[in-house]
Amino acid sequence: SRNFFPYRDGRLHVSQVPLDRLAEEVGTPFYCYSGDALESGYRSFAAALSGLPATICYALKANSNQAVIKTFAELGAGADVVSEGELRRALAAGVPAERIVFAGVGKTAPEMAAGLDAGIMQFNVESFAELELLSQVAQQRGTTAPVAVRVNPNVDAGTLDQITTGRADSKFGIDADEARAFLMQTKSLPGIRFEGLAVHIGSQLTDVAPYRAAFQRLIGLYHELRAAGVPLRRLDLGGGIGISYKHDLQGQFEESEQRVRDYTQMVRGLVSGLDAELVFEPGRLLVGNAGLLVTRVLFVKDNGERRFVIVDAAMNDLIRPSLYDAWHEILPVAQTPEGTALHPVDVVGPVCESTDTFAKQRPLPPLREGDLLVFSSAGAYSFVMASTYNSRPLAPEVLVRGDRSAVVRARMNYDTMIGQDRLPDWLDETA
Ligand code: LLP
Repeated sequence: SRNFFPYRDGRLHVSQVPLDRLAEEVGTPFYCYSGDALESGYRSFAAALSGLPATICYALKANSNQAVIKTFAELGAGADVVSEGELRRALAAGVPAERIVFAGVGKTAPEMAAGLDAGIMQFNVESFAELELLSQVAQQRGTTAPVAVRVNPNVDAGTLDQITTGRADSKFGIDADEARAFLMQTKSLPGIRFEGLAVHIGSQLTDVAPYRAAFQRLIGLYHELRAAGVPLRRLDLGGGIGISYKHDLQGQFEESEQRVRDYTQMVRGLVSGLDAELVFEPGRLLVGNAGLLVTRVLFVKDNGERRFVIVDAAMNDLIRPSLYDAWHEILPVAQTPEGTALHPVDVVGPVCESTDTFAKQRPLPPLREGDLLVFSSAGAYSFVMASTYNSRPLAPEVLVRGDRSAVVRARMNYDTMIGQDRLPDWLDETA
C-alpha cells in the first residue's frame, strides 16, 4: 500500500522531502501535510461512491488552509462550511457556490445573507427559529433559500461525548417527530425552498451501525414527506467517518479504507432505488492522517519517578490531547534502530499549566535535546484549533507534493500578534 511517510536514509520523509531539512528551513514547531495523501484520500472516497448521485462537501472546519481546500476543489469537491469565514475560505479557494452547504446551529442574519448572495447549494437548518430568520432574510433579498432540515435521529454514535451530536440531549438538529409534523403541515414558507433532509451524528465514528440506524430513520422520513407532497430531492448524510490514531505511519490508511468500504456498502444498500441526490460531509477522513505536527525536544528532565520530555510544541498548537484526552502517535524523525528499548516518558509542552501534556507514560526510545519528533494524524482539528495562548505565535503550515514543499501559511510574527491590541486613551501616553 502507499506510504506517504517513509523512513529513508534513517530519517522520516513526507513523500520525498526529509523532515529534518524542513525543520531547518521553517523552524519548529510546524505542521506538515502530504498533498499526495490528501489527493489519494479524496480519490479513494470518491471512487467508493462512484455511480451514486453524490456531492462530497469537504468539512473544512477540519483543516481550512487555502492550499488544502484548493487541493480538494481541483479534484471536484464541494464544501461544508459553518461560518462566514469558512464560506469565504471555500469561495476564495475556488469551490463553486453550488457545491457549498452551510451548516451550524447559530447562523447570524449577515451570514445567511452572505450565503444567499453567493448562491450556495443549501442551508442546513437546525431550528424553527433559524428557519424563520432565514425566510425573512431571503425575502428581504427577493429570493428564496434552499434548505435541508437537519433532523436529530436520536441515535448514540458511540464516540466521545464531546463530539457526539445525534442524541436527543444534543443541541444539534430538530427532533425528527417535530420536523415531520412541521413539514407535513407547512410544506413551504415564503422565503424557503425545502429541498432536503440532513443528518450528522458525530465525529470519529468507528462503527457503521449507528450510521445505518440514523440513515434508515432519515430515509423513512424522506419517503413520508415526499408522499405528503413536500418536494424533497436531497439527503445530506453528514460526515464523521473515523480514522486510525494508533498506528505506525505505514499502516494508518488501511483501517480507514476498510471503514470507507463498510460505510459505502451500507449506504449503497439503503439508497438503492431511492430518488435522491446525496451529500457527504467528510472532514477528518480526508485530512486527518495526511498531517503531522513536527516539534523539537527542548529538554529532558527527571522529576522524582518520572521522566519528562519537554518539546517546543504546546497545547496552543495541538489541543486535542488536553481537550479530549485524544491519542496522537509520537515518533522520532530519526529512525529508531531495531531492538532499541523503549521507556515510558511524559511528553509535555512549555505552556504554564499541567494540562499541557501530550502523552503520559508513553513508551519511547531514548531522546535528547534537539531531537525532532512528530505527532501523527495531525491533519484534522489540529492547526485549526490552535490559539496564541501564552502569546505563542501560530505555527506555520507546510504542504509537500512529491519532492516539492511550500510554506502554505507563514509562522505568525510577533508584530501581527501584538498589533491587534489597542490602548484606550487613558493609557495612551502618545495621544
Ligand atoms: N458535518 C457536520 C454537521 C459536523 O458537525 C462535522 C464535524 C462534520 C460534518 C465533519 O465531521 P468529520 O467527518 O470531520 O468527523 N474537534 C473535534 C471534532 C469536532 C467535529 C465537529 N463536527 C476533534 O478534534 O475530534
